[in-house]
Amino acid sequence: MSQFGTSIYHDRVNYFLDHYEEGKIGSYLTVKGAEITNRLQRECAEKFPTPIPLLFGDDVIHGLRTTLPTPLAQSCSWDPAAAERGAAVAAKEAYVAGIKWTFSPMVDIARDPRWGRIVEGYGEDPYLCSRFAEATVRGYQGKEIGEKYHVLACMKHFIAYGGCVGGRDYNEVDMSLQTLYDTYLPSFQAGIDAGAATVMAAFNTVNGVPCSGSRYLLTELLREQMGFDGFVVSDCDSIRELEAHGYAEDQKDAVYKAFHAGINMNMTGDRYSDHIPQLIQEGKLTEQDVDNAVLPILTLKVLLGLFEEPYVDETEAEKVFLCDEHLTACREIGRDCIVLLENNGILPLAENKKVALIGPLADEKRHVLGPWCCLPDPDKTVTVLEGMRNAGLDVTYAKGCDLNESSDEELRTAVCAAQNSDVAVVVLGQHFNMSGEAKSRANLTLPDAQLQLLDTILATGKPVVLLISDGRPTVVESFRDRVAALAYIWQLGTMTGDAVADVLTGKCDANGRLTVSVPRSVGQVPIHYNHPNTGRPHLGLVWYETGYTDEDATPRYPFGYGLSYSSFALSELTLSTDTIPVNGSLTVTCRVTNTGARAGKTVAQLYIRDLVGSCVRPVKELKGFKKVVLEPGASCTVSFELPADALAFHNEKLERVVEPGKFRLWVGQHAHDETLCGEFTVTE
Ligand code: BGC
Repeated sequence: MSQFGTSIYHDRVNYFLDHYEEGKIGSYLTVKGAEITNRLQRECAEKFPTPIPLLFGDDVIHGLRTTLPTPLAQSCSWDPAAAERGAAVAAKEAYVAGIKWTFSPMVDIARDPRWGRIVEGYGEDPYLCSRFAEATVRGYQGKEIGEKYHVLACMKHFIAYGGCVGGRDYNEVDMSLQTLYDTYLPSFQAGIDAGAATVMAAFNTVNGVPCSGSRYLLTELLREQMGFDGFVVSDCDSIRELEAHGYAEDQKDAVYKAFHAGINMNMTGDRYSDHIPQLIQEGKLTEQDVDNAVLPILTLKVLLGLFEEPYVDETEAEKVFLCDEHLTACREIGRDCIVLLENNGILPLAENKKVALIGPLADEKRHVLGPWCCLPDPDKTVTVLEGMRNAGLDVTYAKGCDLNESSDEELRTAVCAAQNSDVAVVVLGQHFNMSGEAKSRANLTLPDAQLQLLDTILATGKPVVLLISDGRPTVVESFRDRVAALAYIWQLGTMTGDAVADVLTGKCDANGRLTVSVPRSVGQVPIHYNHPNTGRPHLGLVWYETGYTDEDATPRYPFGYGLSYSSFALSELTLSTDTIPVNGSLTVTCRVTNTGARAGKTVAQLYIRDLVGSCVRPVKELKGFKKVVLEPGASCTVSFELPADALAFHNEKLERVVEPGKFRLWVGQHAHDETLCGEFTVTE
């Protein structure tokens, strides 16, 4: 698609030629489109006798031209296979645009919804995030590196970026190494085990040392302990920032520290090429060091087949971008991401209902795509209004207000639409640019103008179905018990409207489940289900137990929570044995029955608790999940393999141990569901 990048083409080519000639450039960020990438490759092939092909990388975070649901939304499907499918869609569109390397997946654990980048990851839980990490790596990279229509994955940001104090982006991270190992490393380990080719070093410090300058983190931990053998790229200018951190005395020192730490590639700027020669002259680095750093990059270029075929077919993008197959995937993934939180029975909408569709995001094409869209085509977005009309619903639309401003006239029109309908579907939420990088927020509820609109529509007495589109969990305390139904629709991408209509009409069951705990108020943040216990646990019975004097200690909606249109019962919990050795394994089974009148989906979730440990253990930890689809009245058996090794943690001395002793387990439909409970013992 020649239009992409052509306006900047001449600048890019000149910059490229100058720098390439001096041996300063080997890869390119943000250049996309088959024509421009081919031309740059050609310039390099024609000009130099032994050209090294360029590697084009970009933030293909949730799709390129077809915008898929955001990663946070995708995680709520609890379906790693869906994320793998989405990553393959993104990879194919990237590939035909000449991009062979995506800066995705972000597998940072995110437990603080104030942090804007919560939208880019898979939520608060290490186990769930690990399953999504390996699935997306597979989706991007295919069966092996170099497979056609697949690209290199880049897991980011190593490490613990989501632990930034106060949810403030780029802020310090101060955490025990045990937490680092048990909570923040597993998702990276899962991605490494799945073959992730590259890793991005984080901006933040961990316990006082900037990740981008830490040899302990990037070499000893990532490479030597975790077995990563691809290449590490800086995060943008994170090398330059070592000076601002006060960790390097000048830019040369910053380059030395980053290089020594293990960063193979500087993402932006000329710092490596400016300072490495001098560092060699000074004897601080050797040419062999540079060869060692370059080798994994060249290896991946070879494996990608770039030396044999650096070009991509310029006719393919037109056939691949937004093709039916990709739009279908986007819709099918999208509808499984929607999390229904309240429903008094109004959903699914009865066919003959007259619907007033109200709200600034009801007929909107850009915000519902979310942040980090690579090359979006908002004209192709199916809005909620279009989706509902496509589904044959009788809909009257009124915007009601802008995202942050209201007008009396728009309010009056919306009230009128509500009064003339049986039900008001109200779509509220945030601007796409209110989440993502550098978009931390101290307030997590809806903007005033939208709250006013909601109050006004509620005052008509018509039942309100509230859909919230945001990149983070919105605090819903002031209105959740006044609406007839409430769902987070997140930012679902190109097929938003059809995906939403599929769920509203009941064509598809509401089956998304939360992957982050939803706070009642910002004051509870950070809040997550898998916290360690205290000596004064919150039992809700007495004073002087952990909690707040002015707020409940529990989340409004727990991790794993979400409603279906049907109901499900879990029964017949069986453990294959009640005692396993530290190298053993047990099988946990239970029966899931659809007790409702509709076909539907639910997620059976296995949690454990190590009852007594040499370190205080989390009150619960997810160790398995199974999504099941059942016809009304039908039931099935789900089973989970639970190896004792999955119970391991890092003790005070940072040794990985499985400690003998008693464990409790639960299979439920969310983290607070304790219907099925069992116990087993691990022996020496
Ligand atoms: C972000 C990365 C991103 C990079 C390139 C940085 O600011 O932290 O996640 O991949 O920019 O766009």
